[in-house]
Amino acid sequence: MEVEKQRGKGHKLVLMPSPFQGHITPLLQLANILYSKGFSITIVHTVFNSPDPSSYPHFTFHPLHGALSETEASKVDAVHLTDIINIKCVQPLKKFLATLLSSQDDDDSVPVSCFIADAALYFTQSVCDEFGIPRLVLRTGGASSFLVFASFPLLREKGYFPVQESRLEEAVVDLPPLKVKDLPVFQSKEPEAFYKLVCRFIDECKKSSGIIWNTYEELESSALTKLRQDFSVPMYPIGPFHKYSLPGSTSTSLLTPDQSCITWLDKQEHKSVVYVSFGSIVAISEAEFLEIAWGLANSNQPFLWAIRPGTIRGSEWLEPLPSEFLENLGGRGYIVKWAPQEQVLKHPAVGAFWTHNGWNSTLESVCEGVPMICMPSFGDQKINAKYASDVWKVGVQLENKLERGEIEKIIRKVMLGDEAKEIRENVMNLKEKANLCLKEGGSSYCFLDSLVSEILSLKS
Ligand code: UDX
Repeated sequence: MEVEKQRGKGHKLVLMPSPFQGHITPLLQLANILYSKGFSITIVHTVFNSPDPSSYPHFTFHPLHGALSETEASKVDAVHLTDIINIKCVQPLKKFLATLLSSQDDDDSVPVSCFIADAALYFTQSVCDEFGIPRLVLRTGGASSFLVFASFPLLREKGYFPVQESRLEEAVVDLPPLKVKDLPVFQSKEPEAFYKLVCRFIDECKKSSGIIWNTYEELESSALTKLRQDFSVPMYPIGPFHKYSLPGSTSTSLLTPDQSCITWLDKQEHKSVVYVSFGSIVAISEAEFLEIAWGLANSNQPFLWAIRPGTIRGSEWLEPLPSEFLENLGGRGYIVKWAPQEQVLKHPAVGAFWTHNGWNSTLESVCEGVPMICMPSFGDQKINAKYASDVWKVGVQLENKLERGEIEKIIRKVMLGDEAKEIRENVMNLKEKANLCLKEGGSSYCFLDSLVSEILSLKS
């Protein structure tokens, strides 16, 4: 067992996250998993949304200075920001790798086995090629959504893009069970920029030495099988990352979680609470916010709502909410800026998760056996929501207008209706599979073993 743990000893891995919460978390979790196999870990990162090195004293951190300032980052959307990172990080990363490789000749230095980059950082492939370093990719999203991204040129050829309002209910013939309305779009001034970014990162993934996934075979086997046919690189579905119990796993949160909500949850009845959170990027209008607030209030279920500052467009935090809103609910509602989400989803009082279906939230909900109310906003979230509601049948999509009456209805459906029992059984079944896949002989356990072997066989 000790020998197994130390297989990576004497080998260094350099990892680079895309600087968004939903990407930093799985990358640092992966780094911890590989550290547990004996590898030395170096994290290169932008100064913008820099991870906190003090939470990971066992890793070496290297900020890419000059790559991207906070001010630049605050002015643009996530697609544009990713484009900028792919341009501005080239030189700083080259400089870092040149220094790192030149020091490799020192007697006590550990050689670099490979570079592991977030899939969105497509620029790293040519940089690694230039330095002769093998590159593995971490895809932080699901395999099912990736399959759709990989089909973008086909979807364009078949006329599905740009998405037309009149065709929203039409089935996407090549990608069942998706309808046109489920296709991943990104509302931006330049929709073409998203298309180009996706095509570019897919192409560079195909040139990598392999793709690591924060998913598990039993959850996404059909997408993974198809991807194995279409891509000639090895696939390593070794998730769910957050379920590995490893020493040194600390918080990867960019915001400080408010623990007081756990004390509040302790006082609620078993499976009675609706937990609401729309992740780290989604923003909503004031009108939508108020419908959600009144829908929750009228549902008569207790609710815990994580509202990140800046979620409501045009407001700092909760200004649009009447000051007596929570008071009038007599303790039935609790609002925080940022929740300790994994802990919340594990809590016995939580009965449903109203989510935007970011991949991490979707996976965390599945792993804790919590049924979902799905309200995707953009990109992969729509596909994750479709799979949650129609394929895995572990949730219900809020498809009608975001209106308080509809909200009340859907909360009842997921928490109390006939369908609720079936949904709960399905999600508990997936939870069980998630637990099994990490055990010795399980799918993720075995893929991790092959990943470690592959890394050790890669030649810089
Ligand atoms: C982004 C994109 O929006 C999404 O489409 C993509 O799949 C991943 O990146 P994000 O909004 O960050 O997603 O959501 P998600 O992937 O769900 O990640 C959010 C993370 O923040 C989760 O790990 C969740 O546990 C954590 N979180 C969220 C908290 O810890 N507390 C909160 O209050 C809210």
